[in-house]
Amino acid sequence: MSFPDIRPRRLRRTPAIRRLVEETRLAPSELILPMFLKEGLTEPKPISSLPGVLQHSRESLRKAAAEAVAAGVGGIMLFGVPDNANKDETGSAGLDPDGILNVGIRDLKAELGDSTVIVGDLCIDEFTSHGHCGVLAPDGSVDNDATLKIYGEMAVAQADAGAHMVGPSGMMDGQVGVIRKALDAAGHQDVAVLAYSVKYAGAFYGPFREAVESTLQGDRRQYQQDPPNARDALREVDLDIAEGADIVMVKPALPYLDIIAAIRDRVTVPVAAYQVSGEYAMVEAAAANGWIDRERVILESLTSIKRAGAQITLTYWAAEAATLLRDRY
Ligand code: PBG
Repeated sequence: MSFPDIRPRRLRRTPAIRRLVEETRLAPSELILPMFLKEGLTEPKPISSLPGVLQHSRESLRKAAAEAVAAGVGGIMLFGVPDNANKDETGSAGLDPDGILNVGIRDLKAELGDSTVIVGDLCIDEFTSHGHCGVLAPDGSVDNDATLKIYGEMAVAQADAGAHMVGPSGMMDGQVGVIRKALDAAGHQDVAVLAYSVKYAGAFYGPFREAVESTLQGDRRQYQQDPPNARDALREVDLDIAEGADIVMVKPALPYLDIIAAIRDRVTVPVAAYQVSGEYAMVEAAAANGWIDRERVILESLTSIKRAGAQITLTYWAAEAATLLRDRY
């Protein structure tokens, strides 16, 4: 007998064989597109560190969201970017039914109804003058419990505006429980919580800060997680599920595939991942220099996130990837 007699290469020989044994297949419907709506714009405006991503006007948001849904994306995650004049110490524009985020949710609901899943980012960092995700205590630290009350009201405002889900991203202890109770008390039992359960205080959010015109000085290390720690992520997920999270999310995605995989093994709720602004910007910058094959890297990174265990991925490439995937199978 010749050696070797077991040859894995047999299953890689032709495109048809490879297709037959392919384990992980991306579908457009599992991709959520994060979008930015900027108060007062009449024309959409580019974000230099996120090439291809726009700060939208109300009109361009409706149009671009409808196009993304037509391309097959599964949902829209909306961020509001208020005028600087509307930022204050407590982020009150985030709760205002006429604040830019709630206006945008209402516009999306009017445009798309239940044909897609509309999610509001539930955090006050875009709306606070200091750029933190919570209100500040006199010593300058972020006051967890005072912030929770605000999150509860913000959730109700987003649900009133028509959000199918709210996405609490502020990493305050107890936020999912308070939001669930507030939604239920307001008659919004059917609005789901897509919890940013695991959110690392890393350096991958840089371009996002430009996208939302963040005023943050300093960092979020007192409330977001420390990158070296994995067990802390499991603890956060356990707590969020106990408090009523319907979907748990890990963020960022590609540098934290080990965390996604561990959580997938642990829970029975859907697991999502957020391929964040820094992940996007790295690929776009390398591609712009001709150093990588952009489309292949986009699909390979999304496939890897799914292979690790995320059944939903938030990505700024959602609409483009949906189009690339459309005629694949
Ligand atoms: C908080 C929030 C952030 C992102 C999503 N929600 C910023 C942060 O935590 O500092 C980052 C997303 C990205 O980088 O693409 N509202």
